[in-house]
Amino acid sequence: METAMKPQHISLDLSKWVLLPSTSTKRKLRDLNGFFADTQATKSILKSGQDPIIYEVYECLQPQEVGHLNLGTTIVHPGKIGEEFYMTKGHFHAKEASSEVYLGLEGEGLILLQSRTGNSECLAMSQGDVIYVPPGWGHRTVNVGAERLAFFFTYQADAGHDYESVQKRGFSKLVVERHGRVQVVGNPRFMTKT
Ligand code: PA5
Ligand code: MN
Repeated sequence: METAMKPQHISLDLSKWVLLPSTSTKRKLRDLNGFFADTQATKSILKSGQDPIIYEVYECLQPQEVGHLNLGTTIVHPGKIGEEFYMTKGHFHAKEASSEVYLGLEGEGLILLQSRTGNSECLAMSQGDVIYVPPGWGHRTVNVGAERLAFFFTYQADAGHDYESVQKRGFSKLVVERHGRVQVVGNPRFMTKT
């Protein structure tokens, strides 16, 4: 089957971690309102007039049809809201039978993964690490370092994103700094979020 799209050459800027060509989306704290556990900390930062960029996504091609791959890079900035490290919103793929691959480019990250039945995993990702996200596993990326965290991703183009489940129930684990250490702890509000 020959598709309408011709073969593509894409380059990766090795200092900015931006694919060329690509379109960028910046996710600011306001966009993540309700995702960080410490809602009071979120509120007070926003109230003070600050709205830091938490992460940026650079996507290229963005085909939607079955058979294609979507690909891009994500840069999660360093920082914390309350005790919780900056992270992506996290999502399940709307089409459950779709998978994803990440390649760590720079920085220190943790990937929180969880299944619909409540199983959870946490995998470290730094430069050169490849993470395979099997079908059915929700995923969120957390920057636990002092520098930016950058990674490349690719997934089936028709996978779609289900953010709603995460917004409603949260992730079962939180990645926080306590006593000067990175800790993965249970989320007391998991499933009970309103
Ligand atoms: O599809 C993915 O898993 C990534 O491309 C993410 O979309 C990206 O890292 C941003 O995270 P999120 O979509 O959870 O906001
Ligand atoms: Mn995904």
